[in-house]
Amino acid sequence: MNEFIQGLPKVELHLHIEGSLEPELAFELATRNNIALPYDSPQALRKAYAFDNLQAFLDIYYQGANVLRTEQDFYDLTWAYLERSKIDNVIHTEIFFDPQTHTERGIEFDTVISGIYRALCDGQAQLGITFQIIACFLRHLSEQSAMNTLTDILKHQDKIIGVGLDSSENGHPPSKFTRVFNQAKQAGLQTVAHAGEEGPAQNITDSIELLSISRVDHGVRCVEDPALVEQLIETKMALTVCPLSNIKLCVFDDMSQHNVVELLRKGVAVTINSDDPAYFGGYMTDNFMAVYKAHPMTPDELAQLSLNAIDASFIEPALKLQYR
Ligand code: ADE
Ligand code: ZN
Repeated sequence: MNEFIQGLPKVELHLHIEGSLEPELAFELATRNNIALPYDSPQALRKAYAFDNLQAFLDIYYQGANVLRTEQDFYDLTWAYLERSKIDNVIHTEIFFDPQTHTERGIEFDTVISGIYRALCDGQAQLGITFQIIACFLRHLSEQSAMNTLTDILKHQDKIIGVGLDSSENGHPPSKFTRVFNQAKQAGLQTVAHAGEEGPAQNITDSIELLSISRVDHGVRCVEDPALVEQLIETKMALTVCPLSNIKLCVFDDMSQHNVVELLRKGVAVTINSDDPAYFGGYMTDNFMAVYKAHPMTPDELAQLSLNAIDASFIEPALKLQYR
């Protein structure tokens, strides 16, 4: 079954490109940009990747992004992710980036998107991996900051398919961004949001109702509201679940407690994704394998996870058949 999982064509719908920064590349970029890191070696940095919760991770993750300065840095980051994903037979990826993580420290929006986009175009041409880009608002920052970011995003709408919402879920409910998401939607952008990762099921309901999202990022706490689970099944609302992330951030105690396979068998359109693979110990195949080991699945069930991802993707409807 290892070979089956490795070879299974995969579609990734929940990947923060900044979260694919491996310690080795972080050191290379720090040297290139003359930045001192508070660790002696990539190994020492990797050892610091132990987290009790989402906020503990976010603190280290935003610090890590500081080595990204030039267009070439963003290119190299994205290219490394694509080369790694090719090994896992990822055929399509929809990546997140966090514009404010960079603009807040003086890096131009154009620098960030140009490097990411150029690498993705090269990846499509040379590795055959198709893509979409989603720009996420940091929910711990203000509505005004998100509005300013939306202005930047709209200048690059030829490259960006939609907007998302990430960072600290607790204390920053979906309602804070209703107006921003309405404007994004009116401008023709797709919308997604992190909800029900650390926060309650109510955040999933509110993201669906207030932010008109097309899919829920994480969403594993939906089980706390059985009526919501029924609604997700009926409306075919997909969840972009990130199993290794959920264990690393203590959303579940261990993989045997994870509910993704239970949700799959109930008929929820769950998908498997890597979130921040450099920090959480695994890319797509690692995530599939970790779930499979704790919850053995049939080949049809494993394939269903990929089919769910194709259905939930922003691939043009007329082209989706070619991916199945
Ligand atoms: N930013 C990067 N990874 C995240 C996650 N798992 N939850 C919220 N914000 C994030
Ligand atoms: Zn995420």
